[in-house]
Amino acid sequence: MNIVVLAGGLSPERNVSLSTGSLVCKTLRGAGHKAVLVDLFLGLENWSGDPSRIFDAEDGLCMDYAVSETEPDLEAVKASRKSGELGIFGKDVIRVCSMADIVFLALHGGCGEDGRLQAAFDLIGIPYTGSGYLGSAIAMDKDLTKRIVQYKGVLTPRWYTLDYEEQDIPAIVERTALPCVVKVVGGGSSIGVALPKTPEELEAALRDFLKFGGRIIVEQYIRGREFSVGVLEETALQPIEIIPKEGFYDYKNKYQPGLTTEICPADIPDQIRARLMSAALAVHRAIQLNVYSRSDFILDEGGDPYFLEVNTLPGMTPTSLIPQMARVAGYSYEELCRRIIKASAK
Ligand code: DAL
Ligand code: MG
Repeated sequence: MNIVVLAGGLSPERNVSLSTGSLVCKTLRGAGHKAVLVDLFLGLENWSGDPSRIFDAEDGLCMDYAVSETEPDLEAVKASRKSGELGIFGKDVIRVCSMADIVFLALHGGCGEDGRLQAAFDLIGIPYTGSGYLGSAIAMDKDLTKRIVQYKGVLTPRWYTLDYEEQDIPAIVERTALPCVVKVVGGGSSIGVALPKTPEELEAALRDFLKFGGRIIVEQYIRGREFSVGVLEETALQPIEIIPKEGFYDYKNKYQPGLTTEICPADIPDQIRARLMSAALAVHRAIQLNVYSRSDFILDEGGDPYFLEVNTLPGMTPTSLIPQMARVAGYSYEELCRRIIKASAK
């Protein structure tokens, strides 16, 4: 198959996406496909060949990317685009994607995971992997997602949502029990998450996040163990327990090898395992997701699983969780990619 692996883009998760994309691309090439890695924002700017011959490119379009310790400098990325063209897409992106048998979406966050790209591809008739535009759009909004899953009977920590206009920060601090969790509604990879323990820390987090003008949620902090559960082809995978050696499962603990212990299958009683797996499946269905997803949970001290968020294009970097869960189900990384492609092409 001719496959475009679409990655990069301009979301704060750009570097994570490039790491997912390069591993997926290398794996697909190893499996005999003609796969090329294309940056959503930069397109083929760094490639001097003829775009119509793109699938015959040797390995120039499948670079190695590791997730760096720091978040990407998006201003520098924008400045590196030579064409001066405006907008989110590199100029060759649609042209090259139209030539592929399928586009493997290795994008995370922002345009790429939020349904806009999926809607555009639907209109043009370009097949792509993963969920459609509606589920992707809903899942990118943590507030809307929590409302829907709660309505379907899935537990989720109590929360309220703030937007820029309604901020009276001292009043918010006054009425919020601490510690709590503050999150940007459309964030990912723990970028835009704070865990304030004091009124001063809460005030700083609110000021910090509200200044971007988007919505944020202030969520009840639940003490407990952290789990993630994947769904692949409408079946829940074994839960994984996440135990960061220090602090919480933030950007650094997620992507620097060795900073977090991950146990899959998680060492939990069968009844809790079943509840986590059925909650992940309930979320997947409630949000109308397809092919694959990964939901994150906190198990409180009483043994109840609380849903935190769902990822419609979960990370597939060398340290990511879905590949580990797939391995426990007996699927290599290559088999996971194959299943995603096959289920998406239906
Ligand atoms: N948002 C990142 C990529 C994940 O959940 O894996
Ligand atoms: Mg996420």
